[in-house]
Amino acid sequence: MTQDEMKKAAAIKALDYVEADTIVGVGTGSTVNHFIDALATIKDKIVGAVSSSEASTQRLKSYGIEVFDLNNVDGIDVYVDGADEVNAHMHMIKGGGAALTREKIVAAVAKTFVCIADDTKQVPVLGRFPLPVEVIPMARSYVARELVKLGGDPSYRTGVVTDNGNVILDVHNLEIIDPIALENSINAIVGVVTNGLFANRAANVLIIGSNEGAKIIK
Ligand code: A5P
Repeated sequence: MTQDEMKKAAAIKALDYVEADTIVGVGTGSTVNHFIDALATIKDKIVGAVSSSEASTQRLKSYGIEVFDLNNVDGIDVYVDGADEVNAHMHMIKGGGAALTREKIVAAVAKTFVCIADDTKQVPVLGRFPLPVEVIPMARSYVARELVKLGGDPSYRTGVVTDNGNVILDVHNLEIIDPIALENSINAIVGVVTNGLFANRAANVLIIGSNEGAKIIK
C-alpha cells in the first residue's frame, strides 16, 4: 500500500465511531480529506459537522454537509483528525497544515478524539517533526528568542498566514521527553496563541493505517 492508501484505510475505519444524528468534529489535512470523502457516503445519517479549518469547511460543503459554528452547538461526541507524530501515550504533534489552534479548540470540546494516521506517524519520542507554534505576528521575534531558551531551533514558515491571521514558527531539534510540560511552557510565552503539542488533550482512540489495513490501537 502507498502512504496515501494507508491514510485512506485509517480514515474509512473512523466511520465506525460516527453515531447517527450527531454533529461530527472534523480536523484538517490529507488524511482527514479521505475521512470527509467517507463521511459524504453517510451524510444523510448525520446532522452535520464542526470544522477546524477553512479548507475542511470547503470540502465538507462541497458534499452538501452542513457546517455549524462551534458556538452554536451544545457539544461534540467525536472529533476525527490526523497527526504529524503520535507516541504510545497518544500524545501528538499536529499543525503541519497550520490549523493547530482551531484543531485544539474543537478537540477540547469533543468527548472522544479519534486520531487517524498512517504508520509512519508513530514515534517513540516526539520531536523529529518540527513543532508548529502559532504566534501573533508582532511577537514573532520575541517568541522565537524564548523558544531558543527552551532548547529549540525555531524557523519562520514564510508565506503562511493561519486562518486566524497569525504566523507559524516551526521548532526544530526538540527531543520531547515530557510533552505535557513543554506544551504548557510554550503556551505560557506571551504572544503564543497555541502550539502543536496535543498532550494535555491526547487522543482517545488511535487508528493506524498500515500494509495490513487499518488497525485500532486503543
Ligand atoms: C493540520 O494542521 C495538521 O494538524 C494535520 O492534522 C496533520 O498535519 C496531519 O496531516 P496529514 O493528514 O496531511 O498527514
